[in-house]
Amino acid sequence: MSDTKIFLPEKEMPRQWYNIMADLPKPMPPVLHPGTGQPIGPADLAPLFPMELIKQEVSTEQYIDIPDEVLDIYKLWRPSPLYRATRLEKALDTPAKIYYKYEGVSPAGSHKPNTAIAQAYYNKQEGVKRITTETGAGQWGSALSLACNFFDIECKVYMVKISFQQKPYRRSMIQTWGASIVPSPSTDTNAGRAVLEKDPNSPGSLGIAISEAVEDAATRDDTKYSLGSVLNHVLMHQSIIGLESKKQLEIAGDYPDIVIGCVGGGSNFAGLAFPFLKDKFDGKDLRAIAVEPASCPTLTRGPYAYDFGDNAQMTPLMAMYTLGHNFVPPPIHAGGLRYHGMAPLVSHLVREKHIEPVAYKQLAVYDSGKTFAKAEGIIPAPESNHAIHATVVEALKAKKEGKAKTILFNLSGHGHFDMAAYDAYFAGKLEDHALPEQNIKQALEVIKDYPPVV
Ligand SMILES: Cc1ncc(COP(=O)(O)O)c(C=O)c1O
Repeated sequence: MSDTKIFLPEKEMPRQWYNIMADLPKPMPPVLHPGTGQPIGPADLAPLFPMELIKQEVSTEQYIDIPDEVLDIYKLWRPSPLYRATRLEKALDTPAKIYYKYEGVSPAGSHKPNTAIAQAYYNKQEGVKRITTETGAGQWGSALSLACNFFDIECKVYMVKISFQQKPYRRSMIQTWGASIVPSPSTDTNAGRAVLEKDPNSPGSLGIAISEAVEDAATRDDTKYSLGSVLNHVLMHQSIIGLESKKQLEIAGDYPDIVIGCVGGGSNFAGLAFPFLKDKFDGKDLRAIAVEPASCPTLTRGPYAYDFGDNAQMTPLMAMYTLGHNFVPPPIHAGGLRYHGMAPLVSHLVREKHIEPVAYKQLAVYDSGKTFAKAEGIIPAPESNHAIHATVVEALKAKKEGKAKTILFNLSGHGHFDMAAYDAYFAGKLEDHALPEQNIKQALEVIKDYPPVV
């Protein structure tokens, strides 16, 4: 009988992160300074990030050492288990083998501490006293609060208002580890006040919350900013997910035909998929599927274009799939996937056809989340339900075709603080929001005069 959980001993935990920048078959377009239209340099990012993270952002070294202090904290929950989902396989009556990497075992309940710990460490090394950030679902805010607590750094979290209201216990969690928190848009920043003036009832968005956190950091000498997704160094810190999974699958004597992750800004998907994409670049036959919500369809309906990462246009211009930096998605119950853009690395690899994007509507996504919970016991985060749904679709396709595919997906977090969303689902209050083409076109008006991607 094969094992249900495949564990790696702590001493086998990877000691280096994998940096896909070293192996890209085609280089990425540069990040541009919005004022000059020229590629940005390290000095442009220095007000916001510690230098070591800026170096990682542009590094083309294939592997980067994980500092001992970071490994020590990782050991509180890492290596995370890899599960063989035999009960889900049975429930679906599929010949496919399904594995999932479970990142919900971290103290914050998701993959987010993998980068939060690293970022807090490098900030501490450079004497930073205070860090600001935004949070959508509350997962990132709690992860950074946890990390700042370990390194004795003050932390302020701007939380997207709709999630602030839907997730009171995420707020408490953030406060337990010591960070302070405000709903965004807030009256604490110019960016927040500007949005509230136009729309006092704005549900907020990640783009708006980023603007607030960036403005706060840029206007104080003792403060830096931390981003929980999108940037190259964040995706690299998450690579520990895929590196561990590879070792665990080796123990199981298996290798995936398909790897799947949900995408908000792209970090958990990249963390799982990039170490496998390295093999794909070397000729391995592998599909990597990035799953987004149909109501925030950045990869499947947005253009690949230069855009800002935030609503108030404070970030550099990044080449990425985008719905326009003013796009405010409908208030769906997967707060962490409501972002107008997508990691430039994930976008680039989608454009180059190394990654397949798909979008699903939330009712089907919750149906699959429930099927998973009934079969495997774990109640997934609403974001992770998107990856589960794509897995179910692929497993049923394998059944129809009579093919014993091996599928690996990332269960990026548990849903213990998301039960209000499950309540809404059971009460029949969740809707599949249609997103008319006209709305997307309108949101994209703002970027029509930006430099073209060459
Ligand atoms: C559990 C979970 N999964 C996925 C995401 C999406 O983020 P990313 O695409 O960066 O992994 C989030 C974001 O908050 C999350 O909380």
